[in-house]
Amino acid sequence: TWTSGNVVEQLVDDIRARVGDDRVICGLSGGVDSSVAAALVQRAVGDQLTCVFVDHGLLREGEAEQVEQDFVAATGVDLVVVDARERFLSALAGVSDPEEKRKIIGREFIRVFEQAARDVVAAHAGAEAQAHGDHPVKWLVQGTLYPDVVESGGGTGTANIKSHHNVGGLPDDLQFQLIEPLRTLFKDEVRQVGLELGVPETIVWRQPFPGPGLGIRIVGEVTGERLEILRQADAIARAELTAAGLDRDVWQCPVVLLADVRSVGVQGDGRTYGHPIVLRPVSSEDAMTADWTRVPYDVLARISSRITNEVEEVNRVVLDVTSKPPGTIEWE
Ligand code: XMP
Repeated sequence: TWTSGNVVEQLVDDIRARVGDDRVICGLSGGVDSSVAAALVQRAVGDQLTCVFVDHGLLREGEAEQVEQDFVAATGVDLVVVDARERFLSALAGVSDPEEKRKIIGREFIRVFEQAARDVVAAHAGAEAQAHGDHPVKWLVQGTLYPDVVESGGGTGTANIKSHHNVGGLPDDLQFQLIEPLRTLFKDEVRQVGLELGVPETIVWRQPFPGPGLGIRIVGEVTGERLEILRQADAIARAELTAAGLDRDVWQCPVVLLADVRSVGVQGDGRTYGHPIVLRPVSSEDAMTADWTRVPYDVLARISSRITNEVEEVNRVVLDVTSKPPGTIEWE
């Protein structure tokens, strides 16, 4: 019978058998899949695993801390955090085109991860290099799930960082073999395994969130100030949806800042000229199609009044009532 305990035991045995004494590297994104994959490998081979978290500054409020503190505390993984926030902001300066932003974020992510991987390799190149050759880190963990395996024809890859950006590969001098401990599991099973391993519930139950993060939820140029505005608005919307018990009804709820749009409002004694925030709550099975979620009016009202009261620069909250198709879930 399927129990998360049995599955963990089996997967841990498999990982140990494959990896032996080798070193392993894993990129953490803050999402469910990479976190559970990392926790499994950690359970199997302990500190032979090094995790790398690239903080690109495009995560939502509290999410970097969930990885850097809660996840580490719960699993004991050896974590390298790369603070690349400035680097991503500089690379995104002056760019408004959605595809351009996605390309830049994907490209920078790969570069930063590559450098971090080199550093990890170098850090372990001492005594171990003699035992294992010049490249002591042999394995790269990927959070590939069963549906991904089926979709891609079932083959096993070697060194592509598919992760959450679906771009590029590692350079020739950093060839890894892939270890994909979740490749027989469905999403709900991954969550059960994650709970079994003690991965924090905030991560296990996290709704889908795109790799390029808040960078594609600011319509217009991405700046530090705009990220701050969006982060506050998003935190309020998430808190109220959670408080209303809607997390399971809502597949995800992008919160979008229309940074290049202003509208007139009135607040206190004065006229305001601020930005709109868009709420995009959707219901879906697989994100291929979606319907806009009929969130109760009182919940919408609370989110709206809190955002306009608490977030400076925002004087209007609007609701996206478009299904997919024709709309996509994200605005960019
Ligand atoms: P769309 O906007 O295409 O989104 O309807 C479908 C689902 O995919 C997520 N999404 C992404 N996930 N990297 C990801 O890992 C991305 O670049 C990306 N773009 C969109 C989106 O949040 C939704 O769940």
